[in-house]
Amino acid sequence: MHQSPTSRRARLLQGVIHLASLAPLAATIWAGLHGDLTANPIQAIIQRAGRYALILLTASLACAPLSSIFELRVAIRWRRPLGLYAFMYAALHFGVFVAVDYGFDLVLLREAIFEKRFALVGFAAGLVLLALAITSTRGWARRLGRRWEQLHRLVYVAGLLAVIHYAWAVKADIRQPLAWGAVIVLLLILRLPPVRH
Ligand code: HEM
Repeated sequence: MHQSPTSRRARLLQGVIHLASLAPLAATIWAGLHGDLTANPIQAIIQRAGRYALILLTASLACAPLSSIFELRVAIRWRRPLGLYAFMYAALHFGVFVAVDYGFDLVLLREAIFEKRFALVGFAAGLVLLALAITSTRGWARRLGRRWEQLHRLVYVAGLLAVIHYAWAVKADIRQPLAWGAVIVLLLILRLPPVRH
């Protein structure tokens, strides 16, 4: 079958999105294998995975305005893979924290997650991302109908919770979390009907 140049370009861009999303994972594994992950590699992996999760979540939020306002129509197809990659890094972030940092010690984990406000907010963001990842399939979209759209608007809540979590985790210098927060709020404003139209 012959592909039009437009669909070939769309497939190429899709490939770039997948490669760009997986590159940080490959770079982290590479750095780990070469002992380049600072003196505390576990902490470095948790921090890197958390940051990649936030970056990809924000990239996923940027797809709708790119498509509707800036008329880069193809961008809407990147929203789901970018969101799922964000979830993958959040799962790695949480998984290393639970399995490696805390060795699945449930008593210590309960303290670490439920008694520290920054971890609790991160946990809430993680739960929202989990619900969105599970229901991201076409089957769930069909089953939930209009409620699917409403449910998936929670992605902005996940983004803002992740930013608060980030700000509370880094404590001293909150310029980076503030910058991410500003970008997410801007992307949310761009989705509001009066702005969009
Ligand atoms: C699922 C529950 C979560 C737990 C238990 C958790 C735990 C943690 C911990 C312990 C840190 C501090 C790491 C350190 O500096 O030693 C941290 C930082 C961070 N987390 Fe989470 N997190 C969770 C969810 C999330 C989610 C869903 C995101 C993003 C979507 C996220 C993004 C970040 C970021 C950006 C940082 C700061 C990294 C840095 O210092 O550069 N976290 N998290």
